[in-house]
Amino acid sequence: MNDLDDLALVGKCDPSDFLGAVEGFPDQLRDAHERSLRAELLPGLKGIDSVAVLGMGGSGISGDVARVILGEESNLFVQTLKGYELPKWVGPKTLVFAVSYSGNTEETLTTFEEATQNRRAPVVIVTTGGELAARGRKLGVPIVEVPEGLQPRAAFGYLSIPILVVCERMGLGPKAGPAIEETIALAGRRSAQWGREVPASQNSAKQLALRLAGKVPLIYGSEGLAEVAAYRWKCQFNECSKVPAWWHVFPELNHNEVVGWKQLAPLTRDSMALLVLRHDGEHPRITKRIEVTLPLIEANLGFVQQVRAEGSSALARLIDLTYFGDFVGTYLAIAQGIDPAPVEVIAILKSKLAGGD
Ligand code: PA5
Repeated sequence: MNDLDDLALVGKCDPSDFLGAVEGFPDQLRDAHERSLRAELLPGLKGIDSVAVLGMGGSGISGDVARVILGEESNLFVQTLKGYELPKWVGPKTLVFAVSYSGNTEETLTTFEEATQNRRAPVVIVTTGGELAARGRKLGVPIVEVPEGLQPRAAFGYLSIPILVVCERMGLGPKAGPAIEETIALAGRRSAQWGREVPASQNSAKQLALRLAGKVPLIYGSEGLAEVAAYRWKCQFNECSKVPAWWHVFPELNHNEVVGWKQLAPLTRDSMALLVLRHDGEHPRITKRIEVTLPLIEANLGFVQQVRAEGSSALARLIDLTYFGDFVGTYLAIAQGIDPAPVEVIAILKSKLAGGD
């Protein structure tokens, strides 16, 4: 296993400096906020009753963030739509965000067409360019442009913050500024705690990554913001660390998954580790459920570790959880000698689906 304190080795394993993008995330959040404040908006929209975020993978999770943050603090109905088809409720009263880092994602282009052509929905695009920007410009759709050169999942701030800020600016969502400022400040402190310069002996992100080597991570969150964070952790383990990973949500998992730890205990004890994402805003019955559940299942897992968010706003807590997962997933890749950046299988899939070899 690679020594995470050997910075030359870290650089060798990570030639495109994916870790640098993770460390620079607080600056990304600030830049995303400024770009969103400057972005051109849709003129005089009235009667908007819902928000739909079209996007897949590292772009689509921005809609999950919006659903939780706007859903918690406003009356807006917000949904992420990750597929080829729009539900019937999307129409002229739905503010649609089409989010695609590359601007070339098939599913997002398909739903964008349907939203603009047949549903007559007002649309805002968040992208670096590509076909989505080209089609948007032809139609006069406002575009929040974000910088190129990152992996989509490393552009999490660039893709998520604009939705919150645009909704606020259009009078649809709560004031986003104070929570974004809190989130930037907290992420700045975290980057200093979890960055590469901090040795493993004092760096909880490196410690968890080293503990996870050779294990299949399973991540539990609870309904709301920790659910979104758990899904983000799972995706980061898949795409950065290139390991299988799964996730589930309290309280739903108490009604099914909790029964499944019986039969294969020797296998799961050897191979799986459970991470439980916690925060001070979780429902008191969720707290109770976690306290009751963990003793029932922990003997069937390699280890169980709880991760607790800091922060007072929902956004700061959510990003505090995901940010730790970004570091852990990146360090786990490097510890295994794997480049955290490329996602070769996704590229192969996209090429084959586009008719390439
Ligand atoms: O992380 C990734 O690379 C993927 O999950 C992409 O985000 C996903 O395939 C969608 O592509 P894009 O973000 O360019 O729309």
